[in-house]
Amino acid sequence: MSALETAKQNVAKKGFLDIDLDPTLDLVEEINRLKKEKNAIILAHYYQESEIQDIADYIGDSLGLSQQAATTEADIIVFAGVHFMAETAKMLSPHKKVLLPDLKAGCSLADSCPPHLFKKFKEKYPDHKVVSYINCTAELKTLTDVCCTSTNAVQIIESFPKEQGIIFAPDRNLGAYLIKKTGRDLVLWNGTCMVHEIFSNEKITKLQIRHPEAVLIAHPECEAHILDKAAYIGSTSGLLKYTKESDAELFIVATEAGIIHQMELASPHKTFIPAPPNNTCACNDCPHMKLNTMEKLYLCMKYETPEIHLEDWVIEKGVDSINRMLEISAKAGL
Ligand code: 13P
Ligand code: SF4
Repeated sequence: MSALETAKQNVAKKGFLDIDLDPTLDLVEEINRLKKEKNAIILAHYYQESEIQDIADYIGDSLGLSQQAATTEADIIVFAGVHFMAETAKMLSPHKKVLLPDLKAGCSLADSCPPHLFKKFKEKYPDHKVVSYINCTAELKTLTDVCCTSTNAVQIIESFPKEQGIIFAPDRNLGAYLIKKTGRDLVLWNGTCMVHEIFSNEKITKLQIRHPEAVLIAHPECEAHILDKAAYIGSTSGLLKYTKESDAELFIVATEAGIIHQMELASPHKTFIPAPPNNTCACNDCPHMKLNTMEKLYLCMKYETPEIHLEDWVIEKGVDSINRMLEISAKAGL
């Protein structure tokens, strides 16, 4: 069996192509060459490692990435992000090849809402509509009326009449934030993101005492006690925009630390402190997002695997919830 065939078999087990690379290979040059040769586009989320962000054709939040995936003219979409993002791209562009450098790049939030359990939960509220955060599996999207991201969640909830009951899944922290923000009585699924739950209230308070001029900014996936202290709450793109436009010079950033790369590029004279976790590890790095590496990105582009495959019924039943989200966002100018 050839080395490549063995490596491809490993994809099934390991989730990525495991082939030794010549250490002198210029990965940036090679990836750029493959992009042109294959008419491929690299879409990267802000939580990717900085080298991957630097080589991407588009870097953005979940809404921006979905908008790009829906409109790109490329033949191949290489998703430098996590599994649910690549699945969303496949649902929006089913005839394109969608590659993910490591199939094991999952998401604790998506995993916290298994579709078979959610289906039973939903049956208890037959008159309710379902709004799901896009951070969920493709199968959950088939049980969803409208998806949302942290950029458009308020507008999506408010697009329903006030008297309409709504189930919000899977993130209970974003859900609680939306209840506060919209005054709606949402039924929440009890899921969370492992990265946004790790921030230490006590350590943030100590940092604020040490740096009284520091501005705390937070992603709405954080717990309420962190959001209550934040001067600004928003999606990754919202946080980035806020740091660009604010007069402040020092920020405590309560989200995955990958976004700090773009904040530093946009405002080189400002300082960004990652919000400290409640233990000693670097837990505000998403372990799923960080499974993607330049080596895996290169190999997946070269051999066009691992590829995202979805069953036709999943695409047909799930895509409406994403398209509805894109329509509402466009009307809201997002
Ligand atoms: P946004 O970039 O849409 O704010 O999402 C954050 C996130 O957790 C993605 O996994
Ligand atoms: Fe999922 Fe949280 Fe990682 Fe985003 S940061 S991919 S929500 S585990």
